[in-house]
Amino acid sequence: MAGARDFALPRMVDVPSLVFFGSVLMDDVRHTPVLVAPVLELLDPRPGEIVVDATLGLAGHALRFISAIGSEGQFVGVDVDALNLEAAGERLSDAPCKVVVVRDNFARIDAVLDGIGLRGVDVLFADLGVSSTQLDVAMRGFSFQQDGPLDMRMDDRSPTTAADLVNRLREAELADLFFNNAQERKSRRIAREICRVRKEDRIMTTGRLSEVVCRALRVHPNSRRSRIHPATRVFQALRMAVNEELSVLDVFLEKAPRVLNAGGRVGVISFHSLEDGKVKWDFRKRQRAGVYEIVTKRPTQADEEERRCNPRSRSAKLRVARRTEVDMDDC
Ligand SMILES: C[S@@+](CC[C@H](N)C(=O)[O-])C[C@H]1O[C@@H](n2cnc3c(N)ncnc32)[C@H](O)[C@@H]1O
Repeated sequence: MAGARDFALPRMVDVPSLVFFGSVLMDDVRHTPVLVAPVLELLDPRPGEIVVDATLGLAGHALRFISAIGSEGQFVGVDVDALNLEAAGERLSDAPCKVVVVRDNFARIDAVLDGIGLRGVDVLFADLGVSSTQLDVAMRGFSFQQDGPLDMRMDDRSPTTAADLVNRLREAELADLFFNNAQERKSRRIAREICRVRKEDRIMTTGRLSEVVCRALRVHPNSRRSRIHPATRVFQALRMAVNEELSVLDVFLEKAPRVLNAGGRVGVISFHSLEDGKVKWDFRKRQRAGVYEIVTKRPTQADEEERRCNPRSRSAKLRVARRTEVDMDDC
């Protein structure tokens, strides 16, 4: 399996002590994990259990899982982003339990666990979306706030960047992408302007795309007419397409009950309605089939205090289900 590394901590010899994103030192870039208390309460990791964090990020949730499972437990962290994974490895270097860190897509969660000889796990967790390290570093090309290459790949081995989509898709395809992924109401107008501009020169940077979107909408980037930047939805739609975020979530949800032990818990934090809807309907469908019991009748959201301290938590929704004893082959 590509990228699998068994740290069996604290034996960590090959992780650099400092990680750089472009010219930014990793230590300067922080990611505050969301909904930490409800994640621990509802997923309830216990001493000696096997926990899988399918979106390891900077190991914010991972560190809490590891304290809960103690030295007898086992922790597996998965992420497609090589830089995040390296930084997370560094942060987990003092873990008291066995830790395995794997670079892979969570859509392959079954193959990842097979590859390290795990048949069933007690907790499976995914905190979807981007981390601050991806958003805040201009070179990653996720942000309209800073100019950088129009990239947006979480996995730099994938063949398609945001620039490829922006310069290659037909006008109608671009408009559908903006509307379907991010409900951008002016999708057609924006797609038309992109196609007009790119005839003269390819759109290769985040700054240029942001400019084109603002021009199509006839608003100034710093306009206070709207609560969010005018290019927010276009960037979100492109990021979702580049990383195939909706389709990999479908595959992950499909595979989750097969990798959970009876009594195991699955939890997903999502940041927009399309993802949350998928999680909600998947859990309901499996509850009807007798495979899950839903733990969160309604999604759990951040309280006032967390919303104030961490604006990113405002759109976070956590849903948790518990795997029953029913054999999947009987469903
Ligand atoms: C919101 S961050 C997770 C933050 C983490 N919970 C923490 O506390 O630091 C999401 C992470 O998931 C990763 N990711 C997104 N989609 C993925 C996928 N399909 N497979 C594996 N990792 C993915 C991203 O690279 C990013 O590092």
